[in-house]
Parts: sequence; structure tokens; C-alpha cells
Amino acid sequence: MNCALLIEWTDVNSLGIPIIDDQHRGIVSVINSLAFFVHQNKGEYFLNTAFAMMDSYTKLHFSTEEELLRAAAYPNFSNHQRLHANLIRESFFKASEAIRLHDSGIYLDFLKSWWIAHINKQDRMYAEIVQGYIGTLGDCDLPAGGRTAAGLEGAQ
Ligand SMILES: [Fe+2]
Repeated sequence: MNCALLIEWTDVNSLGIPIIDDQHRGIVSVINSLAFFVHQNKGEYFLNTAFAMMDSYTKLHFSTEEELLRAAAYPNFSNHQRLHANLIRESFFKASEAIRLHDSGIYLDFLKSWWIAHINKQDRMYAEIVQGYIGTLGDCDLPAGGRTAAGLEGAQ
């Protein structure tokens, strides 16, 4: 069985904005998980799950991104917000088409090409401005327990 990941995350994909990079890795993880099942010819069984995860995770991610872009006074904010709204709509149509045609590859191909272009091109355009904004904030307050290496310290 070939267990290679469809999208291999590397530092090249990072924008240098911790919360955004972390969420982007989460999105890539869902895409890679769907790819795993498509490769096993079981994509159809996981289409609804993958769509539900992508839909809710994407909304959380876009809200985070738009919060930062607004706070950083990103001049292209409304265009970027429009890209996000289009993705939410298009993702729904592609997932519906994939379900109707029993072809999970349609949704997978769409997710892969949209997200790689968005992370590596469109999001890169705001990286410097948001990095600059974050640099003015100092350390963010963290919940009780604070920062841990893996975020799992104390978990049994
Ligand atoms: Fe974005």
C-alpha cells in the first residue's frame, strides 16, 4: 500500500503566522485523509465526513484569517474575503457533484488545487502585513497552563 501523502507539508508552505500555519496544516490533513480513502477506493464512504470537516474547519479558518486581516488593515481585505466566500460556495457545489456522480476524486482534485494555490499564492500576499501587525502585539495571553511543546503535557 502506498502511504505517501497527497500534499507533503514543508516550510515553503508556511507564512510565518503561527495560528494560520497551524490551521493550514489542519486543512491539508483533512485533504490528505480524503486522498487516503480515495486511493483505497473508499472515498465515497468518507465524502460526507470530509465535506463536513472541511466546511466547518474552513469557516473557522476564514474567520481567523479575516480577523487578522481586518486588524492589520490589509488593503486587499474585501477581495480576499470574496475569495473565501467563493470557496465556501464552490466547495459545496463540488462536493454535491462528487456525491451525485459517485466520484470522490472530483472533490479531492478541487480541494487540492484550490488550497495549494490559496496558501502559496493568495495568502502569501498578506503575510508581510499580518506578520508586521502580530509583531506589534507582543505575547498573546494563553489559557491556563500556557504554552507546551506538544500541547499535550499532563495528558495521560
Ligand atoms: Fe485566505
